Order: sequence, then C-alpha cells, then structure tokens
Amino acid sequence: MNFKEELQQRTAYAEEVIRKWLPEEEGFALTMAQAMNYSMCAGGKRLRPILLLETFRLFGGEGEVVEPFMAGIEMIHTHSLIHDDLPAIDNDDYRRGRLTTHKVYGEAMGVLSGVSLLNYAYETMLRAFSMTEDSVHVIRALQIMADRTGIYGMLGGQSVDVENDGKPIDKATLDYIYEHKTSALLEASMMTGAVLAGADEEQTKLIGEAASAIGLAFQIQDDILDVTCTSEELGKPAHSDEKNNKVTYVTLFGIEEASAQVKKFSEKAVEILDRLNNKNEFLEALVREMAERRK
Ligand code: IPE
Ligand code: IPE
Ligand code: MG
Ligand code: MG
Ligand code: MG
Repeated sequence: MNFKEELQQRTAYAEEVIRKWLPEEEGFALTMAQAMNYSMCAGGKRLRPILLLETFRLFGGEGEVVEPFMAGIEMIHTHSLIHDDLPAIDNDDYRRGRLTTHKVYGEAMGVLSGVSLLNYAYETMLRAFSMTEDSVHVIRALQIMADRTGIYGMLGGQSVDVENDGKPIDKATLDYIYEHKTSALLEASMMTGAVLAGADEEQTKLIGEAASAIGLAFQIQDDILDVTCTSEELGKPAHSDEKNNKVTYVTLFGIEEASAQVKKFSEKAVEILDRLNNKNEFLEALVREMAERRK
C-alpha cells in the first residue's frame, strides 16, 4: 500500500472513532450539542488523533483504551480552533471549508460550545478508566493532556499570540508562541499515545522532543500557506495573519528561509524518531509529508 492510501485509511478510522464519542443531539442543551458537533464533523486533517494512535502502535499498544484519547485530543484541538476564530481573537469566518461556529450559531454559542468541547474532552478521556485495569497509565496520560492544553501549553501560547497582535516581537517570543500554541498539542498527542502503550520515561521524553519539532514545522508551514494559498485551498481565510498584523516566521525571515526552517524541524523530528528503540515507517513518512502539505 502506498503512503496516500495508508493516510486515507487512518484518517477514515480516526473519523469513525471521533464520531463514536461525540455528544448526543438531544435534550434542552440541543443547540449546544449541535454547535459542538458542527465543528467536530466538519472534517479537518485529524492529524492529532492519527499521531496519537501511531505512537501508541509504535510502542506496541493494543486495545480500545486509546480511543477516548483520540477523540479527546481532537475535541481539545477543535475547541482551540472555534475560539481562535472568534471576533475577539483572529476574527475569521471560515474553517474547514465551512462558516465558523460563531457565524452559524452566534458568538455566545461559539464561546459556550468551544469551552464545552474542552470539558467534554475530559469527560470522554475519563471514561478510559472503565476500559482498562491499567489506571496508572491513564492518569499519566490525563496529566500530560491537561498540562499541554492549559496555561503552560496551548492556551498560554494563544494568550501571548493574541496580546502581541500588531506588535514587533523577537524570535524568542515567536518561538515561545509556536512551541505552546501548536507544538504543545502535538506533544500531548504523541506523548499520551506513548504513555498509554507503556513506554518508559526516557522514550516518552524523546517522543515529546520529536513532537515539539513537528509542531514548529507545522506552524511555520501554516504561516507559509497563509500567504501562498487561496482560501478555497485552505478551507479557512488566507491572509488572516496579515489582517491581524501578526509577526510570523514569514514576516521575520521571508518565505524561502521559513521553508528551510520547516525542512530543518521536520528532519530533526525524523532524526529523533530514528533514535527510538522501535520504528514506525508510516509515522516518519507522515512527518515528511506534513512539511510539504498544501492544506
Ligand atoms: C490548525 O490546525 C491550527 C494550527 C495549529 C496551525 P490544523 O491545520 O491541524 O487544522 P485541521 O484540524 O486540519 O482543521
Ligand atoms: C492557531 O494558530 C493555533 C491554535 C491553537 C488554534 P493560527 O491562528 O495560525 O491557526 P489558523 O491559521 O487560524 O488555523
Ligand atoms: Mg490564531
Ligand atoms: Mg487563526
Ligand atoms: Mg494560521
């Protein structure tokens, strides 16, 4: 099977798992459940659950305990996108090829359904306790998820990102932003996959370092696509960074140097993955493919 087919198969499987764990559309809070599911079912690359599962497999993980974590990381990520698009943050009208949640359901429901997805992620992942005897690994995975999502992770990064809109920032600040707003959730994906499969601390740390490099490559590529693609190609508005007067790798270094940095961080990630005891060829191919992506 070639890489493209393998990726399609894994994306379809991630999609199936995600849908299985979504809230029912019923009861008095029906509209909120619909708003949560609207963005969750709008597609997206499903990169984080795919990485989580592949890392789980890399360390010989088996069984269904990984499923609530695959769904949970995608809920946390989708929450970050719903809120990232709000008028108070990036103020964007399209996401994943559709109108954004706040455009369809209104701003109040955008705020509420976003934060409700964040909470639902934990409601979902906590169900893992009833799926395994191995509660120690589930607790550790939950700790990593919470830590990489909050003030010391993605949300910390988003806060520094938004408060610096329109301000000239240096590379150290920009790197802090990328390592947190983007790398942190990739670390959460891959490290929880490793921990749930029983990887030891040293191997989990290496996985975290690989994920951090993947995240930097991913965000710099996102900045490049923001200026080189159309909104139709992206499924979200192009030139969003320029609109918000954001400093990015592209504005600081130019497209060519930014592309070189994407390659550099991707190769760094592959090199770290090569140092692990176990190998997963698909994972390495995926890292390289992400650096070339057009979406
Ligand atoms: C978008 O993430 C936000 C960034 C970190 C750049 P993705 O590019 O993974 O978005 P989806 O999930 O495919 O929509
Ligand atoms: C946001 O970065 C990363 C998140 C935590 C959502 P961007 O603001 O560049 O993401 P896009 O381009 O809107 O997807
Ligand atoms: Mg943003
Ligand atoms: Mg944005
Ligand atoms: Mg962007």
